[in-house]
Amino acid sequence: MSTLIVAPTAAAVALAAQRLRAGELVAFPTETVYGLGADAGDPDAVHRIFAAKGRPSDHPVIVHLGEAAQVERWAREFPDGARKLAAAFWPGPLTLILPRAAHVGDAITGGQDSVGLRMPAHPVAKALLTAFASLGGTGIAAPSANRFGHVSPTTAQHVEDDLGDAVAMILDGGACEVGIESTIVAFTGDTPTLLRPGGIGIDEIAHVLGRAPGAPGVDAPRASGTLASHYAPHAPAVLVAASGLLREVAGRETLGERVAVLSRTVARPTGFAGAWIAAPADAPDYAHDLYASLRALDAPGTTAILIEALPDDDVWLAVRDRLARAAHYRDG
Ligand code: TXA
Ligand code: MG
Repeated sequence: MSTLIVAPTAAAVALAAQRLRAGELVAFPTETVYGLGADAGDPDAVHRIFAAKGRPSDHPVIVHLGEAAQVERWAREFPDGARKLAAAFWPGPLTLILPRAAHVGDAITGGQDSVGLRMPAHPVAKALLTAFASLGGTGIAAPSANRFGHVSPTTAQHVEDDLGDAVAMILDGGACEVGIESTIVAFTGDTPTLLRPGGIGIDEIAHVLGRAPGAPGVDAPRASGTLASHYAPHAPAVLVAASGLLREVAGRETLGERVAVLSRTVARPTGFAGAWIAAPADAPDYAHDLYASLRALDAPGTTAILIEALPDDDVWLAVRDRLARAAHYRDG
């Protein structure tokens, strides 16, 4: 029985806030994925995040806020469009990239002139931020609580599986409702840009802004979630069109491979002995289950995870993005 994973009682949340203020790492649930938290005002604590994840130190981390009023502390500008998005979607799965305030250190920004800010909606995250603020804390820096490049965690157990005792405690908030990471919109250039599709749909963003956010240009801020290979299981993930899925499974089995399958519309063939998960048909449910399914299919000995390719429309944008990165060719 794990001693790291604790139920989010008021006492546990208060202890978690104290540990953060003491410079320790605490993992906590958000509505998107679990975060690996550190006191954003303590550079040594933030550095510990990078060591625990095995993440390159020039990758920026998101600062989580309990109140939108705290934006002014971290950002030197809060452009109109960003204010509108915050008003519409905070607390919620939206991260805003804004010009950083002078005091915000390189440990947070990865040396860039911008800072990522998000106000999460999960009740445990909110309670933690409130307890943390009552101890004088101003923001909790938190990337997803997985090893660098791996699939993000959507349960407390996933966090323990990836990070073990590199973290002081893991607040257990159950399975994350959204299941994929926040949508990231940058307000650092002339026009807002979409750095990462996510929990808030691009159509909803466009509706509030009165225009669709642009695609990032070459000078856009770096985001590790935008690396071609990221969010990846250990076994190679391969995207296959629904029409060719059964043929691909049979062909690989003939070659002696042990494949696992994440299908959506194709039924498991009789006689298939491996792991086969039938994913939900609609996009929010699919996103909710995705990372847990990828982790479950990624058993030792699995030679490939075959994933049925998804429809082309916008509601699938964020999960298509994650699958494309999970399936990107990796040489180790
Ligand atoms: O839903 C989420 O966003 C989760 C939960 C825990 O809040 N967090 C998350 O953090 O996904 P992380 O670090 O795994 O991914 C955040 C992304 C990274 O790709 C990072 O590079 C980018 O946000 N990011 C953070 N600050 C940035 C900045 N100042 N400029 C550009 N990108 C930034
Ligand atoms: Mg991440």
